[in-house]
Amino acid sequence: MQFLWYFLVLVKPPKSSLKVIKEITIIPKPANAILNAGNFKITKNTVIFCNNNDLLPVAEYMVAKISGAMGFSLQIKEGTGKGINFKISDTADSTSGNESYKLQVTPKNIELTANKANGIFYGIQTLLQMLPPQIKSSSLQQNVEWKIPCVEIEDSPRFPWRGLMLDVSRHFFTKEEVKAYIDQLAEYKMNVFHWHLSDDQGWRIEIKSLPKLTEIGAWRAERVGDWWQREPRQENEPVTYGGFYTHEDIKEIVQYAKDRFVEIVPEIDVPGHSLAAIAAYPEISCTHSVKDINVGNKFYTVDENSLCPGKEITFEYLDKIFTEIAMLFPSEYIHVGGDECYKGFWSKCPDCQKRIQNEKLKDTYELQSYFIKRMEKMLEAKNKKLVGWDEILEGGLAPNATVMSWRGMENGIKAAKEGHQVIMTPTNHCYLDLYQGEPSVEPATYSICRLSDSYNFEPVPDEVDPNLILGGQGNLWSEAVPTFRHAEYMTWPRGWALAEVFWTSKENKNWENFVTRVEDHFVRADFGKINYARSMYNAIVTPFNDENGILKIKLDTEIKDLKIFFTFDNTNPDSYSPKYETPLFIPKNATRLRIITYKDEKPAGKMISLRIDELQKRVL
Ligand code: ACM
Ligand code: ZN
Repeated sequence: MQFLWYFLVLVKPPKSSLKVIKEITIIPKPANAILNAGNFKITKNTVIFCNNNDLLPVAEYMVAKISGAMGFSLQIKEGTGKGINFKISDTADSTSGNESYKLQVTPKNIELTANKANGIFYGIQTLLQMLPPQIKSSSLQQNVEWKIPCVEIEDSPRFPWRGLMLDVSRHFFTKEEVKAYIDQLAEYKMNVFHWHLSDDQGWRIEIKSLPKLTEIGAWRAERVGDWWQREPRQENEPVTYGGFYTHEDIKEIVQYAKDRFVEIVPEIDVPGHSLAAIAAYPEISCTHSVKDINVGNKFYTVDENSLCPGKEITFEYLDKIFTEIAMLFPSEYIHVGGDECYKGFWSKCPDCQKRIQNEKLKDTYELQSYFIKRMEKMLEAKNKKLVGWDEILEGGLAPNATVMSWRGMENGIKAAKEGHQVIMTPTNHCYLDLYQGEPSVEPATYSICRLSDSYNFEPVPDEVDPNLILGGQGNLWSEAVPTFRHAEYMTWPRGWALAEVFWTSKENKNWENFVTRVEDHFVRADFGKINYARSMYNAIVTPFNDENGILKIKLDTEIKDLKIFFTFDNTNPDSYSPKYETPLFIPKNATRLRIITYKDEKPAGKMISLRIDELQKRVL
């Protein structure tokens, strides 16, 4: 921060042209930005100059991003000159890190300076977001002036770990979809893609030394319908749903991510959530009883999904798996899961009991801790660091483990107090699989995490050393996410909120200002054919019993400047219907409440229609 203030003092642009930034709508919000008068216009004659060969790939990235909409490609040249200049600073500023950048746009020149190509890449994202929204289109946009406003921006991230997680096990996403997800998160200056590659419903990565993991583990019976309510696979039913990534696919995706300064942290979830692996190789389980890959039917405690830590063969197979994982992924971290491990089969397994005795362990929690500690040694022998979900604290934390705190922040706090690194991903702020607004107008899922819940996330608790909080990430579990369009719907705009939480300083955040920028990014996403949720426009419906025990309905909105209209007469409400002012009494014999929000005299949210008896149930 000190560095940034220094810059502001140094620059002193002419007072007359100075304005507090309003018109530019960058997400995440830059640390310091000054908007000046005038624009830099990109034409087909504009040249991108790079003062260092390391910058040629990012210049090519920018050209690729803009040429579809502009209909021309910019020339890239080495050196400096009049036009767009990308510069590695010759006096590297040790206080600002690899990801910071300085951007100066004048009518004649663009100068983007950083210590490293990472910073230039983030400066490019800022430039792209300052171009008209049509730039997101991949097809030629006629009659658009490609102007970038004159600005002085000084920017750097708050946290080094700014991530999104995608679960490709419950539903499979193709190589191209995974790339698109990485591309989208990188555009918001996120730098970690946590790839949940295995679970009970599918094993998604080729392991050449254990081919049945994908021959058997990657395929299940095809189903639709609510998760956990589905009919189990029937006898002789074909297993047609699934897929996996080959080593060649993985290498391609890793390179694609690297080109966007995104580190892929692979997760192989063990010892729990391992039904797909067990179905492929029953010898690594306690009872050898599992046959079918789960389709989203209820199975916990009945079908075995935990590896047997009593058998040596389990660790031999894991060593084969993690040897290939370590070879394929350059990240220094490997995530081993560790969450929600059902231990019922361990209690009855002679091998597990023998292990408990021989290792002088107290119970199955210490057996899980024994397992994770062995995993840590296994990974360290491959020069990798272990990350695990916060259950890895149970029974004792492995010495060098990094903890991903998901069941609230408490376990993250505990781990940090023990001196461990922590990534904060508490469900109520970071779980992108949760409802993002009124459930009756959203696809079925559970609990709730509104856009404002994501935006108001503060990853650093008061009582811990902030240096141990690496950052955070949004997690998209895919039980109820069967398509990539829906993955986008669940991710954006909450992912934008989290991008700002992880990049922008606490002091620089502002919810109302963020919402105006989100609205601009909706337009950009439309041009980019990227799906997103408009749930922030839907009314918030809160039934309650008043002091006399009478049911009343409070209506509210997540964002300001919305008007709420309602009916009890079984007609669709519009702006001529009664306008909500104070909590509603329910008229005698009414059966339904219908609600709609308006913004600027136009319908904004979805129409919500709720039976009075459903509202009554919500109070209980
Ligand atoms: C988790 O949500 N089971 C980490
Ligand atoms: Zn066992």
